[in-house]
Amino acid sequence: MSLLQSARAVRENAYAPYSGFKVGAALRARSGAVYTGVNVENAAYPEGTCAEAGAIAAMVAAGDTAIVEVCVIADCPDPVPPCGGCRQKLAEFSDGDVSVRLATTAGAQQVTSVAELLPGAFKPHHMEL
Ligand code: THU
Repeated sequence: MSLLQSARAVRENAYAPYSGFKVGAALRARSGAVYTGVNVENAAYPEGTCAEAGAIAAMVAAGDTAIVEVCVIADCPDPVPPCGGCRQKLAEFSDGDVSVRLATTAGAQQVTSVAELLPGAFKPHHMEL
């Protein structure tokens, strides 16, 4: 299954009763494993989490910390752009040239990179870690 197919399939499980905006994310780690996530909203609105954050959490829980490819899909007019916080979360685990495929359920796609999404990202090496 392609990363796009994984993101599309998992999106069905998004919990988005407040926004009605379901998002699916899939990422491939350097190990080859694929991790997926969905947005999970909450009656206390600020407690909701994004699909990308869910996929990253699944990856880290499984023991992987290097992302090599990302895909995000939603039902929107243009390929869904990750929010600012998710751009920072992706940058933590990705080199700048990591491919990010943004998609709509209708079939539009845009391929970009982590560095294009977040130029000048604050990274662990800025703390000399
Ligand atoms: N959302 C994501 O899950 N990922 C994105 O890249 C953009 C926004 C979610 C958060 C919220 O549950 C809903 O979409 C509307 O903002």
